[in-house]
Amino acid sequence: MPKDGKRARGVVVAIDGPAGAGKSTVARELARRLGYVLVDTGALYRGVALAARERGVDWQDGDALGALAGALRLGFEMAPDGTPRLTIDGRQRAAEIRTPEMSMGASHVSKHPPVRAALMGIQRGLGREGGVVLEGRDIGTVVFPDAEAKIFLTASAEVRARRRVEDLAERGIEADFETTLREVQERDAQDSQREVAPLKPAADSVTVDTTGVPIGEVVRRLEEIARSAGA
Ligand code: DC
Repeated sequence: MPKDGKRARGVVVAIDGPAGAGKSTVARELARRLGYVLVDTGALYRGVALAARERGVDWQDGDALGALAGALRLGFEMAPDGTPRLTIDGRQRAAEIRTPEMSMGASHVSKHPPVRAALMGIQRGLGREGGVVLEGRDIGTVVFPDAEAKIFLTASAEVRARRRVEDLAERGIEADFETTLREVQERDAQDSQREVAPLKPAADSVTVDTTGVPIGEVVRRLEEIARSAGA
């Protein structure tokens, strides 16, 4: 609960966890059931990586990336199915941020404190009033340490790689399982070992392992958690 009492539009639901744990699907369905807005925070990091690539800013140059992240107008348009679609300076870039290259790019740019600082304000602005499901890596630990509901969603690396391959195939991108598994493990290491806001469950979060659990079951469990937190 925030210090100043209740939020205007409901509670904040934080869903954190590694890539491929099923966060986006589950978060979308949960937000729909609760009548909440969904915020895909990974898309913001992807947007910074994409804009950097287009403007010739190095993914290792933290200061330049921070300045870029602060200058970009990042926002979301809602697709009819409730999927948030990233806009950069008013232009929809949802498809271009979903490539394996931008997955890696986002993981790189997200290491830099100036980037995280620049995106913090946007995320807090989107969630402050409540009535929102935010999915990411550090929502429950850093962005909304006072979130009413905190869920850490996880699954085995093999399951996550398999899901990513299927996901990419649906979008017409062919990916090999072994390579994808390696990328998943690389990203896990990078995301959980970085100094700033590493990927880890908040002390007061509920961990939900989705390995072998049907999606409907996972959503039901999360809805239970969110409802008992006041959603
Ligand atoms: O969830 P995703 O795959 O779209 O995220 C892309 C990258 O962005 C991921 O490797 C780590 C980073 N990220 C982050 O550092 N903090 C967040 N809240 C969300 C994503």
